[in-house]
Amino acid sequence: MTENTPVAGPDLYTTAGKLADLKLRYHEAVTASGAAAVEKQHAKGKMTARERIDQLLDFGSFVELDEFVRHRTVAFGMEKKRPYGDAVVTGTGTIHGRQVAVYSQDFTIFGGSLGEVAGEKIIKVMDLALKTGVPIIGILDSGGARIQEGVVALGKYGEIFRRNTAASGVIPQISIICGPAAGGAVYSPALTDFVIMVDKTSQMFVTGPDVIKTVTGEDVGMEELGGALTHNKVSGVAHYLASDEADALDYARTLLSYLPDNNLAELPVFDSEVELETTDADRALNFIIPDSPNQPYDVKTVIASIVDNGEFLETQPLFAPNIVVGFARIEGRSIGIVANQPSAMAGTLNIEAGEKASRFVRFCDAFSIPILTLVDVPGFLPGTDQEWTGIIRRGAKLLYAYAEATVPLVTVILRKAYGGAYIVMGSKQLGADINLAWPTAEIAVMGGQGAVNILYRAEIKQAEANGEDVAAVRTRLANEYTYNVASPFLAAERGELDGVIEPAATRVAVTKALRALRTKRASLPAKKHGNIPL
Ligand code: HXC
Repeated sequence: MTENTPVAGPDLYTTAGKLADLKLRYHEAVTASGAAAVEKQHAKGKMTARERIDQLLDFGSFVELDEFVRHRTVAFGMEKKRPYGDAVVTGTGTIHGRQVAVYSQDFTIFGGSLGEVAGEKIIKVMDLALKTGVPIIGILDSGGARIQEGVVALGKYGEIFRRNTAASGVIPQISIICGPAAGGAVYSPALTDFVIMVDKTSQMFVTGPDVIKTVTGEDVGMEELGGALTHNKVSGVAHYLASDEADALDYARTLLSYLPDNNLAELPVFDSEVELETTDADRALNFIIPDSPNQPYDVKTVIASIVDNGEFLETQPLFAPNIVVGFARIEGRSIGIVANQPSAMAGTLNIEAGEKASRFVRFCDAFSIPILTLVDVPGFLPGTDQEWTGIIRRGAKLLYAYAEATVPLVTVILRKAYGGAYIVMGSKQLGADINLAWPTAEIAVMGGQGAVNILYRAEIKQAEANGEDVAAVRTRLANEYTYNVASPFLAAERGELDGVIEPAATRVAVTKALRALRTKRASLPAKKHGNIPL
C-alpha cells in the first residue's frame, strides 16, 4: 500500500469509486492545513490564502492549478508531512470579467515558505500569465525561503525574479502583501508594478530586527522597520496603505480596471457621456489660483474637475505628497495623471517626487496609457541634503522617463513652471504633444523674487540708500519681471505652448487633445535598452 491508497474509502477499481476518490483528494487539498491552523490565521485578523483569492476574483471564477502538487523533501523529517498543494494556491480567474492569473501564499502550511515545489507552482502560473498576456497578482504571506530546503529554495526565488523582470512592461504585475515578506523574498514584489500593504498586518524587510540589533546595535520593532505605514510613507516601496485585507483586495480590483491586459492590448473603455460645453462645475476652476503666488491650493480639486465623475485612483498618496500620481478616465478611457501639489512643500521637486513620478510615467508608457501632466512647480528643492543624496542622478530619471515616453502626452501649466522643473514636467521640448497653459502660468528661469535679487541688485541697493520701502520695491520689480518675462503669452508666441486657455475650458480642451492623440504613433531608435540613471 502506498500513501496514495485510501485506507478505507471508495472502490478504486470502479469509475464511481475513482470519482469519489477524486472528490476526497480535492477536499483534502483545500483543507490541507487543518482547522486549527485556519483558526490561528483568523485569530491574527488574516484571511486564508483561498479566502483571499475568493474575495479578489469574480464569484466562482477561480480555476485552480497544481492542487495535487506535493513537496519531495526528506530532510528534517519533512517526508512525514506532504500536504497537497504545498504552501501556495495558484490559478486563473476573472476580475470584472477580465482574465487574470493569481498566486496566494498559504501561511497555514509551512508558514507560506517557498520551497522547490511552491516555487515551481508560482513560476508555472507566471509563465501562463506571460504566455496568455494577462495581469498577474501575487498575494504574499510567507516566512521566505523554506529553511529545510536550502539552496533549492533560493534558486526558485532567482527564477521568479527573472520572470518578474521578463514580465515587466509586458503584463501588469501587482503584489498584495498580507503578512510577512522577509529577506530576499521582498525583491519579487519590488520588481512588480504596484505593491499594496495591509496596515499593521504586513511587513517587508531585507534584514529583520534581530539581525539589525546584532549588527548595528539599533533597536527597532518589526512594524516600525518594515510595516505598511513605513513602506507607504517613508521608503516608497508600497503604493497603497490598505486599512484591512478586504480593502487591499478591493484596491487591486479597482486598479486593474484602469489597466490593459498587456502591453499590446487595448485599454479598457467604459461607457461615458462627456459634456463638450463649459459647465458651471468647470467655471469653478477660474477661481482656484490665488492672487498671491505663495498661497497653495489642492491640485486634486483640479484633477477631480477634469476627469470622469471626479474619480481619481491615486497611487503612493503618502510618499512624496509634493507630487500626485494616479489613474483616472476621460471619456471612459484610462489616463495617468502626474501633478505637482502646491499644498505640499509648495510643489517643489525633490528626489522622492522625481523617482515616484518617473516610475509612474514609465509604467503608463509601457502600457500605452496617455499621460496628463498638471504643472505648478517652483523648482527643485535646494539644499546639501538633496545635492549629496543625488538629485542630479536621481532627478534625471524623470527627464529620462518623459523623454522616452511615446504615449500621448498632454501638459497643462496651471501656475509656476520655473527652471529645470519646467523642462522636466512634460515640456514640449521633452516630447509632449499638446501643451496648454492657463493665463495664470509663469514660465521662466526662476520666480520673480529670485530673479529680482540677481537682475535688480543695484536698484535694490539704491532703494535701501534712499530709505524707500525695500519690500515694496522688490514686490513691484518681481511683479514686473513675472509679467514681462514669465508670461505664458511669450511661450505661446514662440510655439512652446499650443494654446493659452481659460481654466474653465480645461476639461473640454484636455478631452479634445486626447481625442486628437488617439491615433498617435511614435517610436524610439532601435536599441537593446537604454541606460536610465539609477
Ligand atoms: C520553513 C517556516 C519558515 C521558513 C516560518 N516557518 N518561516 N518554515 N521555512 N522560512 C514555519 C514555522 O516553523 C512555523 O511552523 C510556521 O511556519 C509558522 O511560523 P511562526 O514562526 O509560528 O509564525 P509567526 O510567529 O507569525 O512568525 C512568522 C515569521 C517567522 C516572522 C515569518 O516564522 C520567521 O521569522 N520565519 C523565518 C523568517 C526568515 O528568516 N526566513 C528566511 C528569510 S531569507 P510550525 O510547524 O511550528 O507551525 C529568504 C531568502 C530569500 O527568504 C532569498 C531570495 C533571493
